[in-house]
Amino acid sequence: MNFEYTEEQLAVRDAAREFTQTELLPGVIERDTEAKFPAEQVRKMGELGFLGMMVDPKYHGGGMDTISYVLAMEEISKIDASASVCMSVNNSLVCWGLEKYGSEEQKEKYLKRLATGEILGAFCLSEPEAGSDATSQQTNAELKGDYYILNGTKNWITNGNSASIYLVIAQTDASKGHKGISAFIVEKNWEGFVIGKKEDKLGIRGSDTHSLMFSDVKVPISNRIGEEGFGFTFAMETLNGGRIGIAAQALGIASGAYELALAYSKERKAFGKPISQHQAIQFKLADMATQIEAARLLVLKAAWLKDQGEDYAFASAMAKLYASEVAMNVTIEAVQVHGGYGYVKEYHVERLMRDAKITQIYEGTSEIQKIVISRSIIR
Ligand code: CAA
Ligand code: FAD
Repeated sequence: MNFEYTEEQLAVRDAAREFTQTELLPGVIERDTEAKFPAEQVRKMGELGFLGMMVDPKYHGGGMDTISYVLAMEEISKIDASASVCMSVNNSLVCWGLEKYGSEEQKEKYLKRLATGEILGAFCLSEPEAGSDATSQQTNAELKGDYYILNGTKNWITNGNSASIYLVIAQTDASKGHKGISAFIVEKNWEGFVIGKKEDKLGIRGSDTHSLMFSDVKVPISNRIGEEGFGFTFAMETLNGGRIGIAAQALGIASGAYELALAYSKERKAFGKPISQHQAIQFKLADMATQIEAARLLVLKAAWLKDQGEDYAFASAMAKLYASEVAMNVTIEAVQVHGGYGYVKEYHVERLMRDAKITQIYEGTSEIQKIVISRSIIR
């Protein structure tokens, strides 16, 4: 067992940390207030290689391991979770799904541009009536000649307006249940594809969440990913890796809030001494640090298993479940350590607390992670 990072992994972490200080921290409060997508910052993330980190260099990616990705996700999430969810979706849902299961033609046409961040991707599984219950897909794709005719609505799609390429899950044969679901690549400018309004959210307010409507959109057969009926497995396999990214996001939100609380507790004086000298605050810091370390170990274990080519579905569900609960606990306590100052925007922890909540909901709620984990244990 080796708990040391490699020099390359540390270099990636340091580069991400520097990027957050120079590019993401300035303006993060304003972007949150105005619910403004960090377009310029995401463009620079692409230039620095953060949007296709694990993609093979032959498809213009960084060829890095999942540990490096997790380290970068943690750093970026400490400062701006709206930017990091965009990064997570592009890397671990869109690029990974295409690289693993896409045809050579699809990789040439789409993956290369996605990996450099020239264009962004979105992953479209959820619907108004199919969130946790993802097999209940109502979006329908009917084969007619050389095209599928796509109809339906997707909900809550991250990068919904900023993406150019959408991986869309749809029913192609309802009689076969989840084995009749397929996956498609849809381009933004195709006729019949309409993007709904941006959602006004509690947290990750800068991220670009939209519903999408498809009305008789013509999708060429060559844009189906894998065989007909492979779509649900595609979605589940892709989410197994995506959940590592969201777990790393939760870890970053927690560690960002903890670092702010620790620094503040040493500066702020009450009853003649820094509040860090009061045992009630010390115990909060001890609990935060312990939970964060445990979450980090789960996230790294899941990433390591993925890098080793081992089964990581169980580990990624555990990492996401635990890290997201830690993000919520730690950010609430970080606000408490700041007292009244924690309740205003200037001190950042209130934003981190609002951002933390989504990590318990998307890419499978905490309850769904428990279903995945318990089924795996009982089996
Ligand atoms: N990995 C691989 N395969 C899986 C899987 C996993 N984690 N979970 C389920 N499957 C497979 C099962 O093995 C089964 O396949 P077979 O029939 O071939 O054996 C098939 O999927 C159906 O599984 P179940 O019979 O268990 O179906 P279910 O309906 O009882 O439960 C579920 C399925 C696990 C609850 C699934 O619907 C689920 O994960 N729901 C949550 C959806 C989700 O995570 N959405 C995220 C959207 S993307 C997003 O949110 C992005 C973002 O915010 C940024
Ligand atoms: P529901 O499934 O209706 O769940 C409601 C409650 O019931 C939850 O607490 C849930 O845990 C619980 N519940 C449901 N079933 C069970 C059960 N069997 N046992 C116990 N409890 C259960 N989706 C995408 O496809 N792509 C995206 O890019 C994307 N981005 C998102 C961004 C944001 C900001 C948000 C809010 C959502 C995003 N989603 C995305 C959707 C997200 O994955 C779903 O919201 C999530 O999977 C939950 O589905 P739901 O909202 O329909 O809740």
